[in-house]
Amino acid sequence: MRWPHFIILQCLLIAIIGGIVYIHKDQVAVIKSPPASLAQWYKPENERQVWLHNMFNLRREMQAVRLYSDNLSSKNLSFNSKDAKHLEKWVTRLSEHYLKIGKMVPEWKRKLDKKAMARLQESARNHRYKDVSHALDDLNESCESCHTDYRSITATLYRAPDFSSMEISPSIPYKKHMKELTQQVNQIKIASEDGMQDIALSSLADLKKGINALGKTCSSCHKKDIRVYPGDTINKTMTSLEQSLKTGTLKDQGRELGTLAVLACARCHGTHRIAYDTRKTFADGPNWSELIRH
Ligand code: HEC
Ligand code: HEC
Ligand code: HEC
Repeated sequence: MRWPHFIILQCLLIAIIGGIVYIHKDQVAVIKSPPASLAQWYKPENERQVWLHNMFNLRREMQAVRLYSDNLSSKNLSFNSKDAKHLEKWVTRLSEHYLKIGKMVPEWKRKLDKKAMARLQESARNHRYKDVSHALDDLNESCESCHTDYRSITATLYRAPDFSSMEISPSIPYKKHMKELTQQVNQIKIASEDGMQDIALSSLADLKKGINALGKTCSSCHKKDIRVYPGDTINKTMTSLEQSLKTGTLKDQGRELGTLAVLACARCHGTHRIAYDTRKTFADGPNWSELIRH
């Protein structure tokens, strides 16, 4: 094959692949993963959330530098040597914590705007307070650009509570217990609709047991901030559901069961299941063969 033909063929191939990816862009979510070296700054590898605390420091230091540089550059105020001292202190801390990002995660060193940081320090030293403010704006852009790519995935991967090794008891995995709970809820609904009171009541008794068993597992994470599950409201709802299954109308039964499902299941899913599911999706990464097959 001659060279021009070969090159044209290559270009065509790239265009076709590019086209296929572009056509499917609404069906795929592309998310960048943070470098693995970040893990050492989070639990369980680290006792504290060191990375996050460095970030909190940065936000406070940016605010302080903004405050004092605004004060000093405002024409209404005469030069205040106290403010200048304060500014110096916060600029030093800001630069220390900003550069620490590159030491903690070497892969992210090149994301830092070292020029803006140098300009910030120099302007502060030379009392050019308007320039301090401009350098701060540039620095903020570097914060935002990293956050756009990595903030939410990092928080989810390293801070969402992990239920993967949780179990109700050594013989009952967490997921299996969840499936049983949902079957009991639906069994109550089916039996109530079809006029089988005994089955509805016995399923409610099973559900109560299942809910109580689940409640014993909260303390494996909630050690000091104790969660009472089921609490008073859930217990009261179970009692009125039982009453209603015995003597109430079909409508009452449906309403009580719906309330119970919201209080005892959906509330917790709203915090724990969503976060855990998302974390798992990110942590496991895409399964390419499944993606293509589905
Ligand atoms: C190279 C990447 C990177 C840079 C640069 C960066 N951050 Fe972050 N920042 C992160 C990541 C990742 C998180 C998520 C951490 C988490 O939630 O556990 C984060 C989270 C934060 C948070 C917590 C946000 C919240 O609302 O919970 C603050 C505050 C923050 N960063 C401030 C800053 C400031 C101020 C700068 C610039 C001076 C900055 N960051 C620069 C990566 C970066
Ligand atoms: C794997 C650990 C883990 C287990 C098990 C766990 N939690 Fe949590 N839960 C947490 C963490 C950590 C938070 C703090 C918020 C966050 O980071 O999501 C939290 C937050 C919550 C919140 C929302 C925030 C608040 O303070 O109101 C509720 C409600 C809650 N948990 C209820 C429960 C109940 C009820 C159980 C048991 C059925 C339970 N959790 C089991 C780790 C866990
Ligand atoms: C800790 C708070 C919590 C409470 C309370 C809770 N769940 Fe769950 N549920 C979870 C978590 C976490 C998962 C994800 C488990 C997994 O994928 O391994 C889950 C998963 C499920 C699933 C999906 C199981 C599967 O096959 O993937 C069902 C169904 C379910 N829960 C039903 C219920 C019902 C019904 C109730 C109320 C009676 C309930 N859950 C109460 C946390 C909770």
